[in-house]
Amino acid sequence: MSTVCAQRYQDKVMIITGGSMGIGKACVQLFVRNGSKVVFCDIEVAGGKELETEVNGAGPGKAVFIQCDVRKEDEIKNVIERTVEDFERIDCLANIAGRHPPHMPIDNFSSDDFRELLNMNLISYFCFAKYALPYLRQTKGNIINCASLVAQIGQSAAVTYAASKGGIVSMTKALAIDEAKHGVRVNSISPGNIWTESWALGVQDVADPKGAIEAGKDCQLMGKFGTTEEAAQAFLYLAAEASFCTGIDLVLSGGAELNYGNKNQCKEKASPYA
Ligand SMILES: NC(=O)c1ccc[n+]([C@@H]2O[C@H](COP(=O)([O-])OP(=O)(O)OC[C@H]3O[C@@H](n4cnc5c(N)ncnc54)[C@H](O)[C@@H]3O)[C@@H](O)[C@H]2O)c1
Repeated sequence: MSTVCAQRYQDKVMIITGGSMGIGKACVQLFVRNGSKVVFCDIEVAGGKELETEVNGAGPGKAVFIQCDVRKEDEIKNVIERTVEDFERIDCLANIAGRHPPHMPIDNFSSDDFRELLNMNLISYFCFAKYALPYLRQTKGNIINCASLVAQIGQSAAVTYAASKGGIVSMTKALAIDEAKHGVRVNSISPGNIWTESWALGVQDVADPKGAIEAGKDCQLMGKFGTTEEAAQAFLYLAAEASFCTGIDLVLSGGAELNYGNKNQCKEKASPYA
């Protein structure tokens, strides 16, 4: 007996940034499975085109890939314009493209490094929201911004990244206030440790890659990484069902921020990143 799954976001028009890999890719797959018309963009073209073919073959929704460097405002405008040309509306914007620079102390970051990261992680979200909002107001749609748990709890040797993610949470709340009168909901999601190819690459060159992965798992009460599918489910919930949520930050962390742990930074201890 075949099972027909309910489509939770059928025929809704969705923009996803950073859709070629990781959490963004899982969102493209899940929203298309749920009947959405997804326009996704990324700087990474080969993976984007491959994913476009894959999800269009599976349906029941559809996807269009557009190459876009989210640091470039004219390319952001192009994504919005092409979405409206193709699908005549926008119901949801998921800002997901983001970058974590290598871990280092503030002494090693220049102010230009910080400006570039803000452009990538924060200003791009602002621009996508700014240009999508005229259409989102027409559909009483919603925005979902991907922040990070480190916006709340900080992270060692990641001062610029944590600041960029804190900016996203604050911008989300301020925008939720302004857009409520237009019926637009604005929320953020703060993932903790979600297992992605980038996570795997990030630990490849550290002193003890296996130890770093185990340490990553041990950060969660649940003793494991979250999956990209679990992250995508949170995006779908906020888009499709969370009709009374606006201005929230949905923490998706496996409980990583709870309980006391060994947080002493003042005594020498072995780090898998040493
Ligand atoms: N994975 C985690 O554990 C985790 C935890 C907290 C927050 N996040 C956040 O989740 C989001 C997705 O992270 P991920 O782990 O899936 O990352 P990822 O590196 O797997 O995917 C990021 C995507 O963004 C794209 N991208 C990078 N630079 C771009 C640019 N200039 N223009 C357009 N696209 C660009 C990449 O090509 C890639 O497809 C990010 O905002 C990240 O900060 C991830």
